[in-house]
Amino acid sequence: MPVTVLVGMQWGDEGKGKVVDLLSEDKDIVARYQGGANAGHTVVIDGKKFVLHLIPSGILREGKICVIGSGVVVDPEALMTELEEVKKGGIDVEGRLIISPRAHCILPVHKIQDAANENKSSQQKIGTTGKGIGPTYSDKTARLGIPFFYFNDTAKLTAAVTALLETKNCLFEKFYESGSHSVEQVMEYLNRVAPGILPYIGDTRSLLRDAIIEGKEILCEGAQGTMLDIDYGSYPFVTSSNTISGGACTGLGISPRKVDKVIGVAKAYTTRVGEGPFPTELKDETGALIQEEGNEYGATTGRARRCGWFDTVVARYAVEINGIDEIVLTKLDVLDRLDVIKVCVGYEVDGRKIDRISDDISILERARPVYWEFDGWDEPTAGAQKPEDLPKRARQYVQFLEKSVGAPITIVSTGPGREAVIRL
Ligand code: GDP
Ligand code: IMO
Ligand code: MG
Repeated sequence: MPVTVLVGMQWGDEGKGKVVDLLSEDKDIVARYQGGANAGHTVVIDGKKFVLHLIPSGILREGKICVIGSGVVVDPEALMTELEEVKKGGIDVEGRLIISPRAHCILPVHKIQDAANENKSSQQKIGTTGKGIGPTYSDKTARLGIPFFYFNDTAKLTAAVTALLETKNCLFEKFYESGSHSVEQVMEYLNRVAPGILPYIGDTRSLLRDAIIEGKEILCEGAQGTMLDIDYGSYPFVTSSNTISGGACTGLGISPRKVDKVIGVAKAYTTRVGEGPFPTELKDETGALIQEEGNEYGATTGRARRCGWFDTVVARYAVEINGIDEIVLTKLDVLDRLDVIKVCVGYEVDGRKIDRISDDISILERARPVYWEFDGWDEPTAGAQKPEDLPKRARQYVQFLEKSVGAPITIVSTGPGREAVIRL
């Protein structure tokens, strides 16, 4: 199985970091294909916690090669800080991280614009992570962006910065009514960060092509989740990249014909950070209990995550659109203390019952979930590692999800640590 793509099946934070760490044991290369430092992927090894934002989670496995593909937007300062943290954690990164020259550079003005947009009362508030993601992807598609290969040609880089600031400054002065930015300032910034990032720039596409030919194992690490996809998520409350499995092809330069397997990661319930529709959201004490038990606070921004029941409509959609072959179900242990557990099996929308998401994504705003209720299992699953350690009702819950969603659940995660997994 040379190429495996791993995707989040909900609104992000499904536990992808932990699962990538688990699966990367048998891989040669782990590659990020989209997003940027908006991601927060947590891995806990021997009680030590690492939060990866930009660097693929495979960095924590000795000797694995980590790729940041062309589809990622990279904040050089954030990358340097993260590299320092990883090194401080005793990880040797020497020769193990390669960044595509086609990846676009997040500039300080992108982060300022991200914040300004969120604070502008006339604009739709999305609740972004403030990492400059939207503005950087917008400039990329407007052909005003700064890919890293421009760094090798000062004249080209200066011209691109000049063209970018011409339009940006109009926005800053007239629309956001804040200060403008000079070419000198931005060039000074780029000259300062270039020596840190340039040693990591390399031909990632050729590296991956050769690896595929040689039969090496590649794991493509998705960030965010299916419902945050720019085209297929709950628009406009989404991120600005293609988070779905197809994004791995465009974001790494891999042919769709080379993708062998797609693994979906889903939480045993649902969470969402930021604004936007969330049909199964619980705004009561059960939601608060799940938030507390699951420690549901953003790994990137520290914001409290909204919590709700598992939504099979969303998960079925994720299986369809990503072509998911297998599911890893995480955080089952978080439900241990609940007496009653509900699962959304369909929606009622405008008096009609539906169980599939169509292209009219606006239905999510009006969807009233239809639930099936289960008795809790009243016994701890936390830390369980063997299928026989799962209480009967917990097993029935997993089987019910598997059947309703339409793909096998092959791994259940029962705690944050590397060891807390059950292979079914
Ligand atoms: P990601 O963005 O998909 O990688 O997920 P995050 O790291 O943002 O959030 C998942 C959180 O749940 C992290 O704090 C993980 O350490 C934690 N976690 C992952 N799997 C499990 C699990 O099975 N049980 C519990 N209790 N925590 C888990
Ligand atoms: P991981 O990889 C959860 C959400 C933000 C906001 C929207 C747009 O850890 O699962 P952006 O900064 O991307 O423009 O914000 O997307 N968001 C995430 N939510 N997990 C993430 O990443 C997210 N990355 C972005 O909260 O609603
Ligand atoms: Mg996260």
